[in-house]
Amino acid sequence: MVELLPSILSADFAHLADEVAAAERGGGTVIHVDVMDGHFVPNITLGPPVVKSLRRVTGLPLDCHLMIENADEFIPAFAEAGANWVSVHYEACRHLHRSLELIAHHGMEPAVVINPATRVDLLLDILPMVHHVLVMSVNPGFGGQKFIEFSLDKIRRLAELRRELGLAFKIEVDGGVAHDTVARVVQAGADLLVAGNAVFGAGHPEQDARALLTAAREAAGQ
Ligand code: DX5
Ligand code: ZN
Repeated sequence: MVELLPSILSADFAHLADEVAAAERGGGTVIHVDVMDGHFVPNITLGPPVVKSLRRVTGLPLDCHLMIENADEFIPAFAEAGANWVSVHYEACRHLHRSLELIAHHGMEPAVVINPATRVDLLLDILPMVHHVLVMSVNPGFGGQKFIEFSLDKIRRLAELRRELGLAFKIEVDGGVAHDTVARVVQAGADLLVAGNAVFGAGHPEQDARALLTAAREAAGQ
């Protein structure tokens, strides 16, 4: 079943609890939390204190997408704050295997993220360790960017590898997922759809989440 992960990056941070509740009513089943450090990506967002606050206002899993350097240093703090899924970038981890083990050791679901320029096949050896692979379909750092079309080939390649290797990791897609792209993203094989601007951008997250999820499920024949 395809799932919608509202990304709070595009939400109104002054009313975060209400925004999350609305996205949940609209069918969001996991909350996507973008953590940026101003080094790995050219933007700064939030850290464990905000995750801790979110933990108090929603029962949904919190999917923390770490766009940071030195992720290992912060993994214990995210666990402590109540994160459920943690993804780290292939491009930012010198010892990716160690980082994934550290996430699992802290009782969270480990995942790896790849930027648009990073090949899927580089992940071959660590695929058995991950709960999901996150395919960036924009360059990370900002919401509301244009979907990069060749991401569809990467989703298809991951789905093929999953079949060939007999694995069960999920395929998550992040960036530019909206009404004009969602059907193709789902048909390429994505299971977890992150959407920021398409859910929160127009100020009616409940309706917009519901409409996007409906379009996704129709495209998936669900
Ligand atoms: C971008 C973030 C995304 C962002 C997606 O670096 O990782 O999660 O919120 O935003 P949209 O859906 O607006 O492209
Ligand atoms: Zn993200």
